Amino acid sequence: MLEELIRSWDGEEVVVRFDEPTGTWMFVCIHSTARGPAGGGMRMKVYAEPGEALGDAMRLASAMTLKMAAVDMPFGGGKAVLAVPELFDGEARRGLLLRYADLVASLRGTFNTGPDVNTSAADMDVIGERCGYVFCRSEENGGSGNPGPHTARGVFHGIRASVRHVFGTDSLEGRSVLVQGLGNVGAPLAAELAAAGARVLASDVVPDRAAGTDFVPAEEVIGTECEVYAPCALGGTLNAETIPRLRCRIVAGSANNQLAEPEDAERLRAAGILYAPDFVINAGGVLNSLGAEHLGWTREQIEERLAAIGDTLAEIYARADAADMTTEAAAEQLAVARLA
Ligand code: PHE
Repeated sequence: MLEELIRSWDGEEVVVRFDEPTGTWMFVCIHSTARGPAGGGMRMKVYAEPGEALGDAMRLASAMTLKMAAVDMPFGGGKAVLAVPELFDGEARRGLLLRYADLVASLRGTFNTGPDVNTSAADMDVIGERCGYVFCRSEENGGSGNPGPHTARGVFHGIRASVRHVFGTDSLEGRSVLVQGLGNVGAPLAAELAAAGARVLASDVVPDRAAGTDFVPAEEVIGTECEVYAPCALGGTLNAETIPRLRCRIVAGSANNQLAEPEDAERLRAAGILYAPDFVINAGGVLNSLGAEHLGWTREQIEERLAAIGDTLAEIYARADAADMTTEAAAEQLAVARLA
């Protein structure tokens, strides 16, 4: 399975290491350095088998290439997955992070790591002890901190642009938005939407996180009626089985790889649902961290670029309408043109 996956991938490099002390498989996938050194988060997760983790890392790395190009950042795309037997803490976690840091350092800047699912600014601080190619260390350590709220800000702008495209006005007053997953991005997004007057429905596998909101049980998310469905948990929630059951007009959220397979873009279009391509709407994190840490952008410049995510989506929607194609295809066209 590993051999087949690596053979069929269109990326540049796959680095594999087995971490003996913890029984962890480390995969660093560098998809493209055409626009600059690769940047991408490191995901820590339990997988059924290493091949599943590698497949995830490859798809996530490809998405990073599209993301960087879509928002015109001078970086390429990559991703790291640490397939752990369990989520470690304490000394075991620290040791694993330091050995991962050595691996990233050995790549000499071809790949720059940041956080992703199950990793944080505190983890980036540990990695930073041994490796300079790391984004999103805590502010005390000279980094830009947790990218989540900035990703959320970009998604917020993206939701407004999507609402404007469908309803003719971008006011969120009274609009129902279902936020699936109240983690680093979903939680600040839900707060921002509520402050803008939206009717926020929220769901999380940990129900406590949704305390005080209009709670939707995790297994009822797909069939719940709302105007905007914002997937902010893990990917793959849009597929042949779920799309016919959606009761929303717009899908616009932060999760990476929301479409289970390419055909799902057409399924959404056929269902009359506007889809905000994930790699565009969720680019706020990289805009903030790479902008602040690498490009010397000010807060104002970053806020401008986060707002521009809405403009980019509006342009993608217009192109998709004009050419009678899916929004995913229009977004990929935009990104791929910048990779040439
Ligand atoms: N998890 C982030 C994403 O998917 C990755 C990232 C954020 C990488 C910030 C670097 C810096 O966009």
